[in-house]
Amino acid sequence: MTIADQTQPTAKASQVDLIPAHVAIIMDGNGRWAEARHQPRTKGHVAGLENIRRVLRHLENRGVAYATIFAFSTENWTRPVAEVSFLLQLLAESLKTEVGDLHENNVRILHQGRLAELPVELSREIAAAVKLTSKNDGITLIVAFNYGGRAEIVDAAKRLIELGTAVEDLDEKAFASQMSPPGVPDPDLVVRTGGEFRISNFLLWQSAYSEFYSTPVPWPEFDELEVDKAIQAFSSRQRRFGGVLDEQPK
Ligand code: FPP
Repeated sequence: MTIADQTQPTAKASQVDLIPAHVAIIMDGNGRWAEARHQPRTKGHVAGLENIRRVLRHLENRGVAYATIFAFSTENWTRPVAEVSFLLQLLAESLKTEVGDLHENNVRILHQGRLAELPVELSREIAAAVKLTSKNDGITLIVAFNYGGRAEIVDAAKRLIELGTAVEDLDEKAFASQMSPPGVPDPDLVVRTGGEFRISNFLLWQSAYSEFYSTPVPWPEFDELEVDKAIQAFSSRQRRFGGVLDEQPK
């Protein structure tokens, strides 16, 4: 049984829709969603967390193999201390309450970002979730937590230097090999909810040729129908990877 078996699609994606193998999501708009309801921003994050399950199920239902979610950026540390603590706590709690279910549903969990800068207990819990689900072959959920695209590129450069890489071997393949987590294909589609048109330091290296989709819908309201709209938009794009029509990258 996979997570997708538990849901019925509410919107019909067309048979000819091209399905992205990897969808990466900037889950923006939680705070504004809550404020519009005269609730504290933290309520928006709780609603946002609940929405991850719904969207993950639907993505798997549509045949998406990898989903990356931007849950906490290296810049989010500058938010008010209470909000930062809340987000760390939310991840810690969701690891306790959700991972068993995700594992039963055959979801493989990966982490992307700087683990060492997180509280020790939290980083242990993340590592345990990754280990527990490592053999699962359903959808892969990559949780970008304490992640920043620039930091990731700097870290990759440091590792290449530590490995003693010769200057002539320093190419795109070498850099890509040091990006975390290994073995995940670049995202085909990057979705941003909440109405902005920024990449906000998300997957800078990997999204070089991703299709970008922005919607004004805040993350807590980004439902199955909205997922299908994003897939349909992706389906209508012509990806040329800097070449000419129908040419694929070597
Ligand atoms: C952006 O909304 C969202 C975040 C900074 C955090 C995203 C977190 C979740 C969806 C829930 C937590 C997830 C895990 C896995 C613990 P915003 O607060 O910037 O919204 P705004 O732009 O309306 O202020």
